[in-house]
Amino acid sequence: MNLHFKTNERGNLDIGGADALELAKEYGTPLYVIDEMRVRDNYQRVHQAFSQEYADFQIFYAAKANTNLAVMKILEQEGSGIDAVSPGEIYTALLAGFDPDRILFTGNNVTTPELKYALDAGVRMNLDSVSMLERLVKLPGAEGTKISFRVNPMVGAGHHDHCITGGKLSKFGIMEHEAVEIYQKAQDLGFQPVGIHTHIGSGILDPEPFKLAVEVLMDVAGRVHQDAGVKFEFIDFGGGLGIPYTPEEPVLDIEQFAREIVALYRTKLQEYGIDNPTMCIEPGRYIVGDASYLLTRVNTVKQSYRKFVGVDAGFNTLLRPTMYGSYHHIMVADKPEATPTQNIDVAGNVCESGDLFARDRPVPEIKEGDVLSIMNAGAYAFSMASQYNSRPLPAEVIVMNGEADVIREKETYADLLSKQNVPLRFLK
Ligand code: LLP
Repeated sequence: MNLHFKTNERGNLDIGGADALELAKEYGTPLYVIDEMRVRDNYQRVHQAFSQEYADFQIFYAAKANTNLAVMKILEQEGSGIDAVSPGEIYTALLAGFDPDRILFTGNNVTTPELKYALDAGVRMNLDSVSMLERLVKLPGAEGTKISFRVNPMVGAGHHDHCITGGKLSKFGIMEHEAVEIYQKAQDLGFQPVGIHTHIGSGILDPEPFKLAVEVLMDVAGRVHQDAGVKFEFIDFGGGLGIPYTPEEPVLDIEQFAREIVALYRTKLQEYGIDNPTMCIEPGRYIVGDASYLLTRVNTVKQSYRKFVGVDAGFNTLLRPTMYGSYHHIMVADKPEATPTQNIDVAGNVCESGDLFARDRPVPEIKEGDVLSIMNAGAYAFSMASQYNSRPLPAEVIVMNGEADVIREKETYADLLSKQNVPLRFLK
């Protein structure tokens, strides 16, 4: 079993020293529970693996995975930077205490007011297109700004087509064969291009495509350095580091991964005579994915043409199984390691047939009232949640040494309507 979890002396699922059943009882379900120590450990593991190979190394945590302020604050304390993809993420990162210089804004299809917001906030700008460059130059205060570009290295990887961000079909980045010209243009317009970036996709467990992208990006950086005279302060290989979702999937050997990437990086720096820039990566899932659990209670056991276990969460709380067909392991909170005795479907409470957390899943006996834990709900779970079907968003709690704190209150029905206005003519 490669999934990260603990069982307590009562045989129940333990989250950061708290009993999952008690958390479900105290805070209600559905409930997201974050294990603070696991977030810190994950960050430290990846940071150490790389920085022991190359000291000038910086992580930019991909905030989109989980933007809860407490999570952001933990990463701020650990020394991370932030990969922000929208003004909302910049706003959140600033509020969490990140210095603007530790925030890299990698927007795509950004409006000019959004560009202005990022520029005024003083964050690092990572541009996705020449259009962005040409609009940025017209903004007051843009002159002399340090910028970087996202490059499509024509290598892509990821757990699903939707999550592959390099290659011919990808909307992201500038074309690698135009990089020299674009960096030159940026300099001519008075910018200081000091960085280069790529991100090839998400949910990568095989190091090979990542290594290939590193090679390509370094070759592009080399050409930009030699032909456009750019001095790089940082080179950023993006995120994408995968985690096991099924019990059998391998755990990424992060030390080996770091060794291989850094070796390639050093060779290429030397080949092109680039002066040791900061090496950056942008993991999101790797840091928070297995640090959070979605607790949900079984309200219906139903034998129809198939056997369904119906729970009080739905794809509004965890979209990944419906959107990507992703596997999320499910445990019964009072017997996480029990042997499966049956194959069932675990269905949510949204009015769509695609609202399934699992189809034909081997599970132990499950009865109404049981609490289930949907594992790996830390990344792209709450951050992709919605109020679909007029379901208020669930609460989030964080646990450290057995102590739980609510870090986002459960929404109310009033929250569903709080931004709506009824035109006066309807109120007659
Ligand atoms: N950097 C950039 C520029 C990104 O676009 C992303 C993710 C990351 C870093 C972080 O990737 P990670 O390390 O978390 O794999 N909703 C999908 C994932 C979409 C990821 C989009 N970009 C899912 O649930 O699998």
